[in-house]
This record gives sequence, structure tokens and C-alpha cells, in this order.
Amino acid sequence: MLLRLTLIGCIFSSACSFFVCGVATAQEDGSPSRPSPPRAVAVTPLMRMKLERAKNILEALTIEDLDKLARNARSLKLLSLESGWNVIQSEEYMMHSRDFQRAADMITEAAEEKDVHRAALGYVSLTVRCVECHSYMRKRQTEISRRD
Ligand code: HEC
Repeated sequence: MLLRLTLIGCIFSSACSFFVCGVATAQEDGSPSRPSPPRAVAVTPLMRMKLERAKNILEALTIEDLDKLARNARSLKLLSLESGWNVIQSEEYMMHSRDFQRAADMITEAAEEKDVHRAALGYVSLTVRCVECHSYMRKRQTEISRRD
């Protein structure tokens, strides 16, 4: 009798620890049970186009295709003038946009003057603008979600 009880106890406790372990692993490795947080703003195709243009600029710089360089820099500037660009109306966002436009202009002008080195500087400046504005957006998003 005692042996039977001990056996049942063993089976029960190992089933329990299996269950607990199972739950713990599911939480540790994350995802399926935890959906990613909802995004405040849907990412528009316009936003994704920037990356394509920026890549084209790098390619144009390396092969010294000045037409392609100017075309893509102009296109980036135009994208930034689209209404869909102004995701938020804040002074800081406008400031980041203006810096971005200045960098795009610098590339266009340098391409027109066939100055690939100045254009490369413009590209570096442009890339910094991408990172700065995105970092601002993330910081802002964190502040907003903390307030909720
Ligand atoms: C003035 C601000 C600003 C600048 C400058 C900027 N972006 Fe963005 N970008 C945004 C915003 C706002 C979004 C949309 C974020 C969202 O919906 O969560 C975005 C989204 C994107 C996305 C889509 C991200 C995703 O989750 O799919 C890409 C790619 C991107 N930007 C690339 C670039 C590149 C490359 C540059 C520089 C050439 C750049 N951006 C410059 C504001 C900016």
C-alpha cells in the first residue's frame, strides 16, 4: 500500500514538474504566446521607398553614375515633400525633415557639379539623418507608451 502511494506520488509530482517546466520554457523562448505590440502608425510604401533610393545612391556613388545619383537624391527630396511623409506634426520632426532635405540637396548639387566626393559626404550626412529621425520616433513612441 505504502509503495503504491509513493509511486502515485512520484508520477504525480513528475507530471507536475513537467507541466511547470513546460510553462516556464514557453515563456522563456517568448513569441507565440506573446504577440508583438501594435504599431501606432502603419508603415506606408512611401517610407519603404526611402531605403531603396538610399541604396541606389550608394550604388551610384560607387560606380560614379552621376545621373542615377542626382535622380535618386531628387526623388528622396520629393518623397519628403509628400503629405504622407509628415507622420506627426512636431517641431522636432520638421527639423529632422529639413536636415534630411538639405542632405538630399547636397547630393543633387554635388552630382550636378560632378563632384563625387562631396556627394559622398552628402550621403553620409543623409544616412545620419535617417538614423536621427528614426531614433527620435522610437524615443517618442516609448514616451507615449509609458504615459498610457
Ligand atoms: C524626418 C524623419 C525621417 C527621416 C529623416 C527618415 N525616416 Fe524613415 N521613417 C520615418 C517614419 C515616421 C517612419 C514610419 C515609422 C512607423 O510607421 O513606425 C519611417 C519608416 C521607415 C522605414 C520602414 C520601417 C519598417 O518598419 O518597415 C524604412 C525602411 C525607412 N523609414 C528608411 C529610411 C531611410 C533609409 C532614411 C534615410 C534615407 C529615412 N528612413 C529617413 C521617418 C523618417
